[in-house]
Amino acid sequence: MAEKINLILKIWRQKNRDDKGHFSEYEARDIDKDMSFLEMLDIVNDKLIVEGKEPIAVDSDCLEGICGTCGAMVNGQPHGPQRGSALCQLHVRHFKNNDVLVIEPFRSRAFELIKDLVVDRSAFDRIIAAGGYISVKTGSAPEANFIPVSKETADLAMDAAACIGCGACVAACPNASAMLFTAAKISHLVLLPQGQLEKKRRTREMVKQMDLEGFGNCSNLYECEAVCPKKIKVSNIARLNREYLRAVR
Ligand code: SF4
Ligand code: FES
Repeated sequence: MAEKINLILKIWRQKNRDDKGHFSEYEARDIDKDMSFLEMLDIVNDKLIVEGKEPIAVDSDCLEGICGTCGAMVNGQPHGPQRGSALCQLHVRHFKNNDVLVIEPFRSRAFELIKDLVVDRSAFDRIIAAGGYISVKTGSAPEANFIPVSKETADLAMDAAACIGCGACVAACPNASAMLFTAAKISHLVLLPQGQLEKKRRTREMVKQMDLEGFGNCSNLYECEAVCPKKIKVSNIARLNREYLRAVR
């Protein structure tokens, strides 16, 4: 039989953006250690519903670290203590019996709070809409070797393309900077031949939108890289800065 664990949860409750918000304490009792963190919250929510209380609002979708929908601070760390994974991939076995977990939403001026642990990350969508694409005529798939790309370049582009837009980088940064996210989205296109034609306009417009949304600037603290579930490297930010200088010349 799977080992059970008890946890004390101090969870941020806030009805809406105008509510002041507060921490409420909950007991998560007899939780199967093999459960995921989000399954544990489901159990707490089931109990709240049975008691006629308001369940805790928390975002999730794919539950396998792909979609970027989940995310919360667990004891001050975006996505919790496990490096290189999203909140939905965190398991209860990473905690000890009777541990106290402080769970809060990702906080940033650009991520307006919707309810409890759910924040509005549509600022990221607007940065992508400002230029995070290539304009091509669609049709049948082209021959894969038509435009040669070196293995090294393809790997760098694919690594940058792994960004799931979760916002942990913003939540971890004292400046609430979205530079790692924006750099990843610019890098995966600018590294490839298909991304060259629009690169100057793309870089200018995405950086402009990033600033308009109220994100801060990067001051090289590397907190973003440390918490990124996809291990996006800050070297992408250096690439973004180089591209930006070329784009505004
Ligand atoms: S760079 Fe990493 S932390 Fe930031 S949005 Fe992308 S996946 Fe999330
Ligand atoms: S729910 Fe999709 S990444 Fe966590």
